[in-house]
Amino acid sequence: MASKPDDPYEHPYPAPDLAARHPFVALEPRRYPEDEMRARARAFHETADRRRSVRMFSPEPVPRDLVETAVMAASTAPSGAHKQPWTFVAVSDSHLKSRIRVAAEEEERKNYLENRMNAEWQEALAPLGTDHHKEYLEVAPWIVVLFEQRYEVRPDGTTRTNYYVKESVGIAAGLFVAALHDMGLATLPHTPSPMAFLRTLLGRPANERPFVMFPVGHALDGAQVPDLRRKPLAEIFVEVTDDPVV
Ligand SMILES: Cc1cc2nc3c(=O)[nH]c(=O)nc-3n(C[C@H](O)[C@H](O)[C@H](O)COP(=O)(O)O)c2cc1C
Repeated sequence: MASKPDDPYEHPYPAPDLAARHPFVALEPRRYPEDEMRARARAFHETADRRRSVRMFSPEPVPRDLVETAVMAASTAPSGAHKQPWTFVAVSDSHLKSRIRVAAEEEERKNYLENRMNAEWQEALAPLGTDHHKEYLEVAPWIVVLFEQRYEVRPDGTTRTNYYVKESVGIAAGLFVAALHDMGLATLPHTPSPMAFLRTLLGRPANERPFVMFPVGHALDGAQVPDLRRKPLAEIFVEVTDDPVV
C-alpha cells in the first residue's frame, strides 16, 4: 500500500541491508521541460531515420579512436545481470580483410547459389539486390565483428553463466550502429551464415560465437540504397488498457 503520494514505495530500493553490503550511488537523472523533451525526441527520431545500411563503402581511412568510441557507446548497453557478454573484434589489416571476404563469399555462394536460403527468404531479399559478392569487406577501412560470450571465462579458468546473451548483445549492436551513424559513419549489419569461420580466422576463444559483423567506413560518394519504407506507428504500436470494450 502506498503511504504518501510523494513517497509511493513501501519497499525502498536498495533496501538498507542491501546498500550496506553493495555500494549504490545517487542517480543523476536529467529532467527537461515537456516541450524540450518533445523537441529532443523528434530530433533523435530524425537522426535515426536517416540511417541506412550501406553496401558501397569508400576506402577512405577512418581513425581507430572513432571506432573505439563507438564500441564504448555500444558497451553502455544494458545486459542480463550486467555481464556485458560481448567482444568487439576490429580488423583494418588488408590481408585479414581479404581472408574474411573470401570466407564470407564462400558461405554466401552456398546461400544464394546453392539454395541454402529457401525460396521465401530469397524472395524477401530480392528488393535489396544482395548476392554472394562481398567486395565491400575489402574496401571498407574496418570490419568489426561482434562476438557474443556464451559464458564467462574467469582469469583462473573457471566459468560462469551469462544471462540473456542474445538480447543483451542485440541491444549493444543497436547502440553500436547508432553511435557510428551519429558521428557520420556508415555500416551494415552483415551475417554471412554460418559464421563459425570468423571465430577461427580471428582466433577467438571457444566461449565466443560470432553474432554479427559490421563493415565500417564512409559511404562511397554516390552510393545508392534500396528505396525502403519504414512501418508507420499504427502498425508497430498498440496501447493496451483494462477498459471494457465499448
Ligand atoms: C541481424 C541483421 C542481419 C543482417 N544481415 C545482412 C546481410 O547479411 N547482408 C546484407 O546485405 N544486409 C543485412 N542486413 C541489413 C538489412 O537488410 C537492412 O537492415 C534492412 O534491409 C533495412 O535497411 P536499413 O538498414 O537501410 O534500414 C541485416 C540486418 C540485420 C538487423
